[in-house]
Order: sequence, then structure tokens, then C-alpha cells
Amino acid sequence: MSNADSLRHQEEADPGRPIGQVISVRGSQAKIGLLTSPFQERNPSRCTVGKFLGIRAGESLLVGVITKVSIETSRDHQSSADLDLVGEIKQPAMPHAQFQRGVTEYPAIGDPTFAIGARELRLVFNVFSASVIDIGHLQQDSTIGAYVDVDDLLSKHFAVLGTTGVGKSSAVVLLLQEILRARPDVRVFVLDAHNEYGRAFAEKSLVLNPRNLRLPFWLFNFEEMVDVLFGARPGTEDEVDILTEVIPRAKAAYNAYRGSTDRLIVKRSDQRIVGYSVDTPVPYRLADLIGLLDERMGKLENRSSRMTHHRLITRIEGIANDPRYSFMFENANVGGDTMAEVLGQLFRLPPDGRPITVMQLAGFPSEVVDAVVSVICRMAFDLGLWSEGAAPLLLVCEEAHRYASSDRGVGFGPTRRSIARIAKEGRKHGVFLGLVSQRPAELDATIISQCSTLLAMRMTNDRDQAILRSAVSDAAANLLDFLPSLGTGEVFAFGEGVALPTRVKLKQLPPHLLPKSDALSGARDETGIDGELLAAVLKRWRAATTKLEEAPRDAKAPDLVPAAPLQPASPGDPLRANLLKRPLSERLDVARGFQAPAPTKRPSDA
Ligand SMILES: Nc1ncnc2c1ncn2[C@@H]1O[C@H](COP(=O)(O)OP(=O)(O)O)[C@@H](O)[C@H]1O
Ligand SMILES: [Mg+2]
Repeated sequence: MSNADSLRHQEEADPGRPIGQVISVRGSQAKIGLLTSPFQERNPSRCTVGKFLGIRAGESLLVGVITKVSIETSRDHQSSADLDLVGEIKQPAMPHAQFQRGVTEYPAIGDPTFAIGARELRLVFNVFSASVIDIGHLQQDSTIGAYVDVDDLLSKHFAVLGTTGVGKSSAVVLLLQEILRARPDVRVFVLDAHNEYGRAFAEKSLVLNPRNLRLPFWLFNFEEMVDVLFGARPGTEDEVDILTEVIPRAKAAYNAYRGSTDRLIVKRSDQRIVGYSVDTPVPYRLADLIGLLDERMGKLENRSSRMTHHRLITRIEGIANDPRYSFMFENANVGGDTMAEVLGQLFRLPPDGRPITVMQLAGFPSEVVDAVVSVICRMAFDLGLWSEGAAPLLLVCEEAHRYASSDRGVGFGPTRRSIARIAKEGRKHGVFLGLVSQRPAELDATIISQCSTLLAMRMTNDRDQAILRSAVSDAAANLLDFLPSLGTGEVFAFGEGVALPTRVKLKQLPPHLLPKSDALSGARDETGIDGELLAAVLKRWRAATTKLEEAPRDAKAPDLVPAAPLQPASPGDPLRANLLKRPLSERLDVARGFQAPAPTKRPSDA
């Protein structure tokens, strides 16, 4: 800022010169008659929507935000501004002056109105408090940082909402960096739907993908396991019933013979099965499960029940041998209680200098993503619950409308329930939620209503705006009219985390930190869309369905059993195409026409 600018700035901040006076008051809204014409050459305060004004009312300075300006001439003024009152600074001239939300005193007709100066804005945003983070600057005054209270932001959950391409993911990177700086005790888990956060946190993050994730199948609860095995397939009730009976037995079998060299399978008559439910998170061996099924089948007379058992065994074996599922079924017959290691790795306990986990979901078989997300959300909550919040965790969920849809028929019930549970009770147990969505209207309304800080970015869809309108206070609702006009990287922040509904220009991220699909990064700039690009595409395509790419040729050779397809891949199977479509569509302009696939309908999900 030049000297002249700074002088003028001080002038503006000078509360000695009113720029208008109150001409009417209605509820928490006041109308100000402005003394200068908006056309005047140097209209010093450039009163326009979104700016803050202060009204001197007795001992207090009432702070309001302009929601409307219009020409309205009378004897005393030439234009008018509608103001939503949002808070007040008591005894503003005193050194210990503090801002508080809400107003205790209302303005009277004729009360003088001032442009809010830098000092008042600093009071409002409480910039000297230890718990605030700086995310950018105010649109109103680029010299004043935009501050968010990190404790309120976290503990009462937040959501980043806006059309695709407006900078949501960039905002998340920025927020996470600042959050970790202010709260080194917090760990972060990012459900990265488009594999775009891999580079953003560099050595501070652990990046998980199907190749390095280990999520043993026995950590899946019953519903999740059934989802993995059968998906939305109808007509599998008999098979599910059988599993209900056999899984607790397999758990008991493992527990009974653990440590002994005798790996005999538990007999049906074995009494030690009591005490395990289908959902108890204890290890069992797949061999025990199959063995028990085999044993049951052997005793059956009825041909059709035998067929049911046979089908079930084939299905389990097919999936367990599918290389795409090796993250679940590796060492499925070895046993060993690795729960502590798995949880420690996933949720960074201890963080070992890497407090962030980025889970790249785009490489997982699309049929299994829902179940994996469900396991993660459920375990995140349970870990918080059983550790009594000893290690606070922020769970960031990209494309949240896929997992917590407002339409009960969309997505996977258990995933929505796990997220809802964190939204409702998470704060008691140190588990916090950060939801990101481009379709707020499709997000579960009760879940979004638990997010007390909303960072709204450009949004043009009426239904999406309506959701926000219902989620924010009346005072802020007027400001939502801004939403369609926000620029990229601009945020309207309101709720607990910010002192006032504020229009913020977020900090610029350097290009190397921008969220971007890392799958093919650089391919287009260097080689264009040519043979090399196609080769890279095919490599990823095949890698998604084999272990070939990763495996050292000699050592792993015997493992390369051809994958038994989970569901016969018909040429038009849309689920299979999803594997590639998502990440690619972000890289290639030619692919822009493709939208991320709509979540699968699951008739079984009530
Ligand atoms: N804070 C920011 N700093 C720098 N560039 C940004 C920022 N926000 C958005 N952008 C630009 O906008 C593009 C889209 O941002 P992104 O975060 O991927 O949007 P969204 O997640 O909403 O689709 C980025 O690739 C970048 O070029
Ligand atoms: Mg994004």
C-alpha cells in the first residue's frame, strides 16, 4: 500500500466523520441514509453490498453488513443502504474493547453511521487470539486478513460447498495446512475421491492406495462384508443368512486355536462360539470360514441348499483371489491380530511426522469403495469413542453427497450412518468432520445442518442455494444472493468459525500445491494426447485389475492367478468404466464431457 493509500485508509477508518445516519429500523435490519452520492468522484467508503458499517448507538458500535444499496434522495441524503446488524463492539474507544455477536442495543433514528475501520475489523475478527487461522483476506479490505477460529471450525464441523472448479479442493488444502499449524495435536484423514491430494502435503502425508493399503477383511462389519461380497445383487438372502451363522463361528475358531499349531477347524458342536457377534472386530481366517461352509454343505441332503452353499463358497473364493481385492484379503489365512497396526497406520497414531492420511479412492474397485469408506468412518468414530477423544481426528470427505446422500436410495446405508454419527456425536469424542460437495442439495440435510461453519463458494443452482438459505441465519441469508457471482477462490464464510458472515478472497496456492490428479501429471504438457498418453492410460487401466504392474517378475509369479471376475463384466457395465473415468476426466479436456458417475442405486439400502 502506498503512503497516500495508507493515509486515505486512515481517513476512512476515522470514526469521527459519519457517512450517514439511521433512517429506519426493522428487527435486526437498519436502513441508512447516506450523506454522499454514490456517483461522487471520491465516494470515500464506496458503500456497496457485503461491506461492513458501524452505527454508534449509545456506548456501543453496532456492526452490520450491507445487503442492498439504492438511490433515494431526500433533504438529508442521496442514497440509502440496507444493513443487517450482526454484532456489536462495546465501548469501542477503550483499549480492551471486544466484539460480540448479536446486538443488545438497537439503533435509533438519526444514529450516526461510520465506515468500519481497520481497528474495528481487527476487533471483529479477533486476530490476536491464539486459536485463529488466516485463510486469506477480506474482499472489503485486502489489507485485513480473514480469520477463522480453528477450534470452532473443527469441533463443530465444517462444509466447503460450491460448483465444480471454483476452488473447493484448493480451499481444503489451504485449510488443512493452517489447521495443522495451529493445532499440531490434530490428525487428518482425507477421503480423496479423485486422487488429487497426493502431492499437496508432500512428506507430511501418508498416501494410501489399493497397492499399499492393508485393510483386513475381518475389520469389515457384517453389512460391509455383505456389500463387498454381493453388492446390490438381489436374491442372495439365503447366502447372507448362512454367513450370519458362520462368521461368528469362524471368529471363535480362530480365537480357540490361536497360538496352537493345530489349525483344525472348529466343530459345529463346539460350544466356544458364544460371545462373538457377526460384527465383533476380531480376526478370523478365510480358510476357517470356507471350511465351516464346506462342512455344513457336506451334511445337507437338500440339493438346492447345497447349491446355495456352493455358490457362496465360489463367490468368497473368487473375490478373495481377485488381485483388485488384495488390500483386503492378503494373508487372509495367516491370521494374526493386526488391528492395532492397521488403525495406527490409518489414523497416524503415532503421527511420525506425517499427521495426514490421504486415501486415494479412485483406484479401488468401484464396487467396494462404499464399503471401504464405511469401514474408515466407522473405525474413526469408534477409535475416538473408545479412546475418549485422546487423539483428535479430522475426517475430510470429498464428494460427500456420494456417501451421505439426501436420497435414502442412493449410496450405502452404513456409510451414511457412520458419517451421520460423527456429525451428531463426533465432537464429544474428538472426531471432526469436513465435508466437501458440489451438490449441497443432494447432501443429507441433517448431516449438513450439523456443520456449523459453512464455506460457500460460487453456486448457481437454485436448489443448492436453497439448502444454504435454510442452514444460515436470516441475517446471513440476504447475503447468499452473492453466491452466483463469487470468483474462483472466493468464499462466503459464515457460521461459528467466523465472527461475521464474511466474503473472503482465499490465499493463492503455489502451483505445485494445487490439488490435481497426479495420475498423468505432465503427460499432456509434454507429449500432448498421443501414443505415450494412451500407453499411460492402458497401464493404469490394467493395473486396476491385475497385480502385474507392481510385482517383481520373478518372486511374485505364482500369485498371478487370473482374476475371477466379481460380476461378469458386460461390455456396457458402467461400474467398470468408473475406474478410469473419474481421475482422467480431470486431466483431459477431451474427457471433460464426462461427469463423475452418479452413485449407484442400491435397492437393498433402506
Ligand atoms: N486458492 C487458490 N490458489 C490458486 N489457484 C486456485 C485457488 N483456488 C482455485 N484455484 C484454481 O482453480 C482451479 C480449480 O480449483 P479446485 O480446487 O480443483 O476446484 P474444485 O475442487 O472446486 O473443483 C485450480 O486448479 C486452480 O487453478
Ligand atoms: Mg475438487
